[in-house]
Amino acid sequence: MASQERPIFITLGNRKGGVGKTSSVINIASYLATLGKKILVIDTDPQANCSSILLKDFNDTNGRSLVTALEGVPGENPLSAVVCDTYHPQISIIPNTSSCMLWERKVAQEADAVMGISRLVKQDKALNAYDFVFFDTPPNLGVMMNNALMASDFVIIPIPPSDQFSLDGLAAYLNLIGSIRKHNDRLKLLAVLITKYAPEWGNSAQNLSQIKEYFSAKGISIFQTHIHNCAEIDMAHVARKPIFESAPDSVCAHEYADLCQEILKIFNIIYGKKFI
Ligand SMILES: Nc1ncnc2c1ncn2[C@@H]1O[C@H](COP(=O)(O)OP(=O)(O)O)[C@@H](O)[C@H]1O
Ligand SMILES: [Mg+2]
Repeated sequence: MASQERPIFITLGNRKGGVGKTSSVINIASYLATLGKKILVIDTDPQANCSSILLKDFNDTNGRSLVTALEGVPGENPLSAVVCDTYHPQISIIPNTSSCMLWERKVAQEADAVMGISRLVKQDKALNAYDFVFFDTPPNLGVMMNNALMASDFVIIPIPPSDQFSLDGLAAYLNLIGSIRKHNDRLKLLAVLITKYAPEWGNSAQNLSQIKEYFSAKGISIFQTHIHNCAEIDMAHVARKPIFESAPDSVCAHEYADLCQEILKIFNIIYGKKFI
């Protein structure tokens, strides 16, 4: 992909926490980086889990964060000025901090509260150096989730079939995507990603067939690659590493690699050019 072109902006979102949004951003970004893609991760979750794993030095951001850019005088603090290094030279991150919650509260009533990131993206030609920009998102439908979707081309919804609550919140999340599309007509639901799949547990397999029915009735795809429940994912977070570094031979490492290949093949078709 030529560096002057616009990156592809992808949100990993679900109103529920614990579904694998952050794990998926970390591992998708990491695999694409090994293929030579240039990746920017924007952490829109004030819990900053993604920042804590990916940042090269969590204590040395020099005040650079998403909020610094959002609060800055227009033109003064572009997104590209708050980019930080990660463990991998091909991946950069705009970290988040807990102060983002104060910013969200402050702007919540403003008419353009959801436009902050998309406005910064439009003004910032330096972002064109990236092939992909991934938004990790908080577990709610608040200001930050709206900002990420307003700036995105695609959304991927991670769903663990064993988690009934993540299924219960789906309709509200799909409604939000529908309402954002009225303002951002580029936004498409790329596909649902099955995460933490443990067919041997409880009603996981039964829920999966319900999920398949639910989405096929809506014409929404599910990625062929499912990410199984895999202890190595937790262990990778403890080691503050992507799965490809901490357990490269694990089932999940292979599945995240397959998922990335699947995503790139979909983009080959959508964009009519070779991503892989
Ligand atoms: N495929 C998986 N197998 C096992 N545990 C997982 C898997 N994906 C995520 N987890 C664990 O589930 C928890 C929530 O994952 P996380 O990625 O933080 O979700 P979210 O960002 O949606 O809150 C974490 O403890 C993480 O290690
Ligand atoms: Mg998370």
